[in-house]
Parts: sequence; structure tokens; C-alpha cells
Amino acid sequence: MAQAKEQILKNTNAKILDEFNASVMFDKELYDQDIRGSIAHSKMLCAQGILTLEDQQDIERGLLQVKEEIESGKFEFKIADEDIHMAVESRLTQIVGDAGKRLHTARSRNDQVATDFRLYVKEKNQSIMKQLKTLVETFVDLAAKHTTTLIPGMTHLQHAQPINFGFHMLAYANMFKRDYERFQSSWQRNDYSPLGSAALAGTPHNIDRFKSCELLGFKEPTACALDTVSDRDFALEILFNISTSMMHISRISEELILWSSYEFQFVKMSDEYATTSSIMPQKKNPDVPELLRGKTGRAFGNLISLLTVMKGLPLAYNKDTQEDKEGVFDSVKTIEISISILNDVIKTMHVNVEKMENACKIGHLSATDLADYLVQKQNMPFRTAYYITKSVVARANELNKDMSELTIDEIRSAASEIETINEEIVDFLNLRNSMNARNSFGGTSSEQTLLQIENFNKWLKTI
Ligand code: ARG
Repeated sequence: MAQAKEQILKNTNAKILDEFNASVMFDKELYDQDIRGSIAHSKMLCAQGILTLEDQQDIERGLLQVKEEIESGKFEFKIADEDIHMAVESRLTQIVGDAGKRLHTARSRNDQVATDFRLYVKEKNQSIMKQLKTLVETFVDLAAKHTTTLIPGMTHLQHAQPINFGFHMLAYANMFKRDYERFQSSWQRNDYSPLGSAALAGTPHNIDRFKSCELLGFKEPTACALDTVSDRDFALEILFNISTSMMHISRISEELILWSSYEFQFVKMSDEYATTSSIMPQKKNPDVPELLRGKTGRAFGNLISLLTVMKGLPLAYNKDTQEDKEGVFDSVKTIEISISILNDVIKTMHVNVEKMENACKIGHLSATDLADYLVQKQNMPFRTAYYITKSVVARANELNKDMSELTIDEIRSAASEIETINEEIVDFLNLRNSMNARNSFGGTSSEQTLLQIENFNKWLKTI
């Protein structure tokens, strides 16, 4: 009786340990890369005379059958197989017999997993770039519709200077353009094939790493086997790139949440992106941008998690690195859905031009223009101009007006130094003129905004 109990306990422990050790339930995501890697490896082995053509053809046929079984849902993933590499190989051997057992010649799961994962990350870098391109186009198209729409430009979330809404949208187009370039440079930096590094030190077999590299579409084989089997920089880079993009997505989401509040009412998101409260029927909550903002947390978490996994690892491969995948898969899924949803939100939202422009009449947005005028036209020291401007602001407040609404007499009466100021100052304080006055390169004037849009469109044509 006691013996039977002990046996059960042993079996249970073994089962727990098998599950603990296994990665197949999540690394099955890499089945396609694994099969492509194996086909390339078998072709290289055959070209080198290490595998017969017959064996290679059996292997390739068998691998394609495994792929078909996985894709049609027929494949049975078993914990006992431990990981996707063993799962594919053992099914292959069932299908083609001994040829399947020859496939693992001159490689190890260490270079195999590095190859699969690099392929996956490279392909995801590329597909995310495509999505980012679409997102940049969406922001640029929206910007093109609003190069004369005024909106209060803010610092410290306080009204600062009038800008146009197109210019504001271009700020995001710039962020997502940088993201695009970051994903691009990451895949270019990591476009090297690990295959043939073997366990850690290369192999005595007469392999041709350049051949398998070419078959897999990498630029070159990696330079050092020891580094290759333990390097996960490519995974860290995509996690960082995703985190940065999510941070940008979170920032625009934050603005959308503010802008759709009663206090702003600058935009109205399409009804699909808001839900009602279960208790307050009159409410519409911006759940979707809130979730985009919230999901940023897991992207950051995945980055920190892998950095932490890697920090103490001695060379070369350690099982710790099996922990590299789930976070990457999660971050990739998060960014893919987030870009796609954000793109739709921006495309379908209603921009309330009137509310934006009315908001510009609060907070004396053109105050800096008076100071600039006094400096430029009257050669006044900036500090003096600053104090005079302050008096005009005070005057406007007394009159319960915005500075842009003051008459010439009201302006002149604010300070003795400007008693005879030229009447043209009224035009300078006009909000639209104020926006257009910022015509320096990269500035907010409609002219500069149009130029920035033109440059974006040129760039979009080159990618
Ligand atoms: N499942 C493993 C991983 O994801 C594959 C490599 C296993 N290699 C080994 N020597 N145990 O890292």
C-alpha cells in the first residue's frame, strides 16, 4: 500500500517536472520556422554529401506532411516531446523512418532554436514595419486635412501657443517613422544565420553554413558559434522596439482620452471604440484607448523580464533562455493588434474643429507674439518686452477678453511704452497669424506643415 502511494507520488512528480521542463505548448508557435530550418539544413547536408538525395527527399516530404498536419489541427503536441524541435523530429521519424533520424546530424537544438527564433523575430520586425507604414500614412493623411485647423499647443498641459492640428498629428507620424526605422535597423543588424553553430563550438562535419544561410534568406552566417547559441539580443531588440512603439501608442491614447472628455470635446471617437457604463447609462467610456495605454505595461514587463533572464548567464547555452519566447510572442501579438486598432480609431474619429479653435481663445496664446514683435520691430530688450506683455495680458483679463480679441486702443492703454504702437500689432495677435508666424523649418505654420507632409509622402514612397 505504502509502496503504491510512493509510486503514485513519483509519477506525479515526474509529470510535474516534464511539464516544467517542456516548452512545446508555447514554442509550437515556431513550427513553420522550425520546418523551414530543417529543410534548409537537410538540403545543405545533401549538397555536402552528408545525406543521400533519397534521404533528403524523404525528410523534406515528411517535414511538409508534418507542417500540413499542424496547420490542419491534426498534429498531436505531447509534453513528452519537450519542445517543438523534438515534436517535429519524432513525428518525422514516424513518417519516414531512419532518414528522419539522420536529420539532426551536425546541428544541436541550441543552434536550431536560435535559428527558428531569429527567423521569427526577423519576419515579425518586417511585418510590424508594414503596419507602422500604414499608421504613418493615416496620421499624414489626417494632418493634410487640418493644416489650417487651430488647436492650443501645450506645454505642462497648459495652453502655450496656437498650432495647427495637422502639425500635432505629424508629431505622431514622426514617432512612428522612427519606430519603423528602429525595427528595420534591428532586423538588419540581426540578419545572420545561427544554423551550423551546433551545440556551442561548431561541428567536425564538413558543413556549409553559407549554403543553409542562403537557403533561409539570412545575409551571412553568424561569426562565433559560442556567442550565437546564447545570444538573444535580437529578441531584446524587438522587445525594446515594441515597448517604444507601445509608449507612443500610449501617448496618443492618452491625448484621445483627454480630447474626448467633456472638458475638451476636441474629438469624437467612433461608437465602436467606446462602451457604456454598467451603472451610469449616460456615460461613454473610451475603453479602447485606455486598453491601448494599459497594454503598454505588459510590453515593458516582457522587456525587463528577458533582460533579467539574460543578465547572469555564463556562456554558452543555458536552459534559462527557454524563457525568452513567451514574452516575445505576447509583445508581438500586443503590438500587432494595438497598431491595427489605433489605425482604425484615428481613421474613423470625428475632429471637432470648432471646439479646437474656440479653445485657442483661452489663455492668451498669442502673448509671445507681442513680445516677439516688440523685440523685432522696436528693438526692445526681450526682458522689457516680456513685462510689457504681462501688462497687456493683465489688461485683457480685466476686460474679460483673450489677447487676440483686444482692439488697438485696449492694447495701447496697457503700458506707457506701447502707447503709440503700430496698429498692425492687432494682426500679429490674431491666432491664425500667430500660428503662421512660426514659419521656421520644422515649425507649425501651415506652409511648414505642408512641407513636412510633402517630405513624409516622399519618404513613404521610398519604403
Ligand atoms: N526548448 C529549448 C529552448 O527553447 C531548446 C533548446 C534546448 N537545448 C538544450 N540543450 N536543452 O531553449
